[in-house]
Amino acid sequence: MAQTVRPHEKLDLALIFLGPPGAGKGTQAKEVARLYGVPHLSTGDMLREHVAQGTSLGQRAQPIMARGELVPDSLVLKMIAERIERPDCSHGFVFDGFPRTVAQAQYLGVLLRQHGYKPPLVIHFVIDPQLLLRRITGRRVCKVGGEIYNIYDCPTRVEGHCDKDGGELEQRPDDREEIVGPRLLAYEKQTAPLVAYYRRLGRLHDVDASQGVDDVRQQILRSIREAH
Ligand code: AP5
Repeated sequence: MAQTVRPHEKLDLALIFLGPPGAGKGTQAKEVARLYGVPHLSTGDMLREHVAQGTSLGQRAQPIMARGELVPDSLVLKMIAERIERPDCSHGFVFDGFPRTVAQAQYLGVLLRQHGYKPPLVIHFVIDPQLLLRRITGRRVCKVGGEIYNIYDCPTRVEGHCDKDGGELEQRPDDREEIVGPRLLAYEKQTAPLVAYYRRLGRLHDVDASQGVDDVRQQILRSIREAH
């Protein structure tokens, strides 16, 4: 049966979308957060915003992100701790790209307990690795609203312009083919151990992320419903 979110349904959970670069986390996180009326907390988007604004955090993060490596835990954790203090986080949130190391996951566990949340529910994006290069190098993002497209799989109606607001599309600097290898390596070495970490806690649901966007969303909504 098709899964929908009814207006009265609350998330009241910390959701984590975990998976390799290009698996579709951002595409799904935006929509799931919208359906539940909770914030979408993408550490990648937050860091890119700091880079665009030229803050001191942005200046430290920019060369690291450009190489496809992970930004130090200390910088990311401070950013997250501040963000979930805000009142819009009182009925749950969707983490996209966080946590990315075991140290980040352990700190998050403490932070969630302090805020009265139970352990997070982790949606693990399982994907055929051969699809990742196409998804990453084909991605284009709207400069205005951040909408995500793909020149191969999710093209816009008018080439180079967002379907929602007509904004110009751009390619992320780290989506160039030569940066994809280091990003995937960082995932395997530093982030993939989180799969076993959360599986041990009994809070991990696998979804088949090689399927189409709507099908993946149905799997995620079903997992959330089962976890409640
Ligand atoms: P971040 O921005 O988090 O990037 P990422 O994890 O590498 O993930 P992506 O954004 O590349 O992919 P996605 O899974 O969101 O896929 P999307 O939905 O866009 O991080 C960037 C950098 O910031 C890191 O390298 C690091 O330096 C730093 N950073 C961030 N967080 C950090 C942290 N916690 N600690 C330390 N450093 C951190 O989809 C991809 C493409 O596929 C799109 O074109 C989309 O249209 C298409 N697509 C999506 N779903 C489907 C589908 N089902 N079928 C067909 N096409 C699809």
